[in-house]
Amino acid sequence: MTHKLLLLAGDGIGPEAMAEVKKLIAVMNEMGHAFETEDALVGGCAYDAHGAAIAEVDVAKAMAADAVLFGAVGGPKWDGVPYDVRPEAGLLRLRKDMDLFANLRPAICYPALASSSSLKQEVIEGLDILILRELTGGVYFGEPKTITDLGNGQKRAVDTQVYDTYEIERISGVAFELARTRKNHVTSMEKRNVMKSGVLWNEVVTATHKAKYSDVKLDHMLADAGGMQLVRWPKQFDVIVCDNLFGDMLSDVAAMLTGSLGMLPSASLGAPDEKTGKRKALYEPVHGSAPDIAGKGIANPIAMIASFAMCLRYSFDMVAEADRLEAAIASVLADGLRTKDILSDGMREVGTAEMGDAIIAKFREAA
Ligand code: NAD
Ligand code: IPM
Ligand code: MN
Repeated sequence: MTHKLLLLAGDGIGPEAMAEVKKLIAVMNEMGHAFETEDALVGGCAYDAHGAAIAEVDVAKAMAADAVLFGAVGGPKWDGVPYDVRPEAGLLRLRKDMDLFANLRPAICYPALASSSSLKQEVIEGLDILILRELTGGVYFGEPKTITDLGNGQKRAVDTQVYDTYEIERISGVAFELARTRKNHVTSMEKRNVMKSGVLWNEVVTATHKAKYSDVKLDHMLADAGGMQLVRWPKQFDVIVCDNLFGDMLSDVAAMLTGSLGMLPSASLGAPDEKTGKRKALYEPVHGSAPDIAGKGIANPIAMIASFAMCLRYSFDMVAEADRLEAAIASVLADGLRTKDILSDGMREVGTAEMGDAIIAKFREAA
């Protein structure tokens, strides 16, 4: 069966990381798989080409694809463009239109990197947690979202945090289902002490747990304390479920537990289709376009490659291939290969392409 992938490499290091996945896909096709890929523009490069962060025709292609692979968008070149067409708007549009409400951000500490983090080895060694971020609601999309001139030399900016019961119900359902396949423990993070949306979040997660998932251990934590606990002793967590903005921030914190933002993959999933059971899905690294290192060939491609492993697992049920790809990443790290962001004493520094090639070679060898 052919798997149709839309590749949206984007800006900055996005295309550099995507190039490594393209090589991998070509190798997998040689090995007998049937991926069909198409490239399209998103972000600043799309704005430069046609004045929008993504063209309508490409949104339609994303909706029709079996899965979307996304690199990264944004950069200082587009700092001055109108808010509605800024590069990041392309990504937000895709998340909303494809209804990708569940964003899985696993943070795994590969054994070979346990000694090279800014945190103590015993804190992160063996770490395997999953941040589940609600991705289509909250302050990212709530209306009104405005800046108004008050006419007295002052302006007022308004962002609105909105959550409806069904949005919290469906993301907590995913959290409990995922926990059952892991260590059976969910920690829900909100700020019910200051936010009405936090009160509802807590109430709905608790009710969902009671109704359908009481076999799973559930804890609640205020999100600020949760950030602290993530750095103090992250191994206390299994699945963390939280809203869109807290999930954005907490997952960047979690990235550093794995050694670098360049290590963290993600999967953004919709609900299964009632007839086919298939989910709309987009896979992307957690990092951005890294303007400070773009064009130098030194970006870490692991987050992008591991995002493709998640695509194999969640969109195509290719569990053996996903396992083999993740094992290839671990093995290359164990051999001492490091991009600059994860470099430590005695290790061999390699560029983006060399890291990609080494992972692909291991993947092929293990077939
Ligand atoms: P960033 O993630 O691009 O970079 C933060 C730091 O991490 C930089 O020092 C960068 O060099 C480093 N880094 C990130 N990925 C790396 C990798 N793969 N290998 C090595 N080092 C890596 O975040 P930022 O600088 O805050 O944002 C830059 C632009 O990216 C902004 O326009 C922002 O909106 C955008 N952004 C896009 C996405 C996305 O497309 N999904 C995500 C985050 C930020
Ligand atoms: C992320 C990014 C995005 C977000 C930006 C680029 C819109 O930071 O995917 O983590 O804030 O969700
Ligand atoms: Mn982010």
